[in-house]
Amino acid sequence: MIIRICLAALLAGTSVTAAAQEPAPFARGDPHKGEKLVTKDCESCHASKFGGDPNAIYLRKDRRVKNASQLLSQVTMCNTQLNAGFFPDDEKDVAAYLNQQYYHFKP
Ligand code: HEC
Repeated sequence: MIIRICLAALLAGTSVTAAAQEPAPFARGDPHKGEKLVTKDCESCHASKFGGDPNAIYLRKDRRVKNASQLLSQVTMCNTQLNAGFFPDDEKDVAAYLNQQYYHFKP
């Protein structure tokens, strides 16, 4: 059930943010803080979906997130839907971390 909700949010986020041109909306995020948050609240579920590798979800060929604003909105939506309790600054930290490690969108 939770996963369904997260996925719906994900699809909604993709269409809403596609038009946003703002580059790297999480430019001020702190990747070090983000790493801790992701490890604590997000990875175990991702890992269980991808054969134990929590990083595979970001690196798969058909990944959902295609640009910086989608990345932030994905983090925001999943946080909201999953009740992870991140503040907006935390979401930016998480997005900054995921971008630095996996997505490499240009600022
Ligand atoms: C209950 C399980 C679960 C939890 C907890 C969870 N996710 Fe996810 N997440 C998923 C699933 C499943 C997908 C893939 C959806 C798809 O393939 O369409 C996903 C996809 C993503 C993606 C997109 C990956 C891509 O394809 O580019 C990001 C980013 C993401 N999650 C971030 C987070 C963050 C940040 C958290 C912690 C707040 C989190 N997720 C917690 C299940 C979860």
